[in-house]
Amino acid sequence: MAMVERVFSGVQPTGNLHLGNYLGAFVNFVKLQETHNCIYCVVDMHAITQGVDVWGGPAELTRCTREVTAAFIASGVDPKKHIVFNQSQVTGHAELAWIFNCVARMGWLNRMTQFKDKAGKDREAASVGLYDYPVLMAADILVYRATHVPVGEDQKQHLELSRDIAQKFNNDFADSIRGHGFNDGLFFPLPEPVITGPATRVMSLRDGTKKMSKSDSSDNSRINLTDDAETIAAKIRKAKTDPEPLPSEEKGLEGRPEADNLVGIYAGLSGLSKAQVLAEFGGGQFSNFKNALVELCVTKLAPIASEMKRLVANPDHVDSILIDGAERAEAIATETMKAAKDIVGFIRKR
Ligand code: TRP
Repeated sequence: MAMVERVFSGVQPTGNLHLGNYLGAFVNFVKLQETHNCIYCVVDMHAITQGVDVWGGPAELTRCTREVTAAFIASGVDPKKHIVFNQSQVTGHAELAWIFNCVARMGWLNRMTQFKDKAGKDREAASVGLYDYPVLMAADILVYRATHVPVGEDQKQHLELSRDIAQKFNNDFADSIRGHGFNDGLFFPLPEPVITGPATRVMSLRDGTKKMSKSDSSDNSRINLTDDAETIAAKIRKAKTDPEPLPSEEKGLEGRPEADNLVGIYAGLSGLSKAQVLAEFGGGQFSNFKNALVELCVTKLAPIASEMKRLVANPDHVDSILIDGAERAEAIATETMKAAKDIVGFIRKR
């Protein structure tokens, strides 16, 4: 098994995808297809780690799994050249997570800030799955021996944990790993985060200091990937700004979170840098810039919304994409699991 440069990333099927998901994740997913073999996974097993009141129940889980799949494809992910599937179809994720549960240490998991945030005050009431979430995430990545993982800032700690788990596995089983023909002793690679693109952090349209979020009570705070052209235009026209004209240089955006966010969105959608955007619009009226931003958002996002609509209207087609992807993912995961079981010393069918 030669080490190939392989990208893996996962997105939870939890509804209400928005511009932050698009610019923060999907745009990078599409770009990485040019240079890497990519596996993009709808992580339905991660989605059920909080209470059913949070994830919405079986029908909602199924709907959201299809919706995220549709969003990948509508954004330009190619499920034929690369792999798109939902996590629960490939049993290797759960199997490897068990081995990793026995490699990872309580002390490591106790440091995870996302668990503390999500569990809130009543930690005793959190599910064991929520606590174990980062171990399953390590298994997601390493069951494909993926080397590169596009993730947002908030997932960096989890990715470090994945590296720690890979490293401890490689150390704990060093002799066995060599004994099974992995002469460099590196059975699992240490996966690296990939953070690209100018506008990775998209903020609320109502408050430039808060992240754009699916759970914000104001729908005007975000542009949903399913919003049509009129809705997108109305939300941008209403977006909070300050009374100053746009600066001509990036430094002038300091202390102006709303202006900075809108310029960042323009940059992300156009592929220009913020400096280039300001070179074009700096010094001019904010309203001119907003008009241009409306046009850009509608041009880029309305076709995605209509393609998503077309796809989700045909659930059998979406499911067939996930099934085909899962078959190809499984072929890779099975090879890793055979070797991992041999390394650990588990007897298996030959
Ligand atoms: N935890 C990630 C998130 O919430 C989702 C995820 C699950 C993931 N498994 C992964 C991301 C593996 C990257 C790689 O965003």
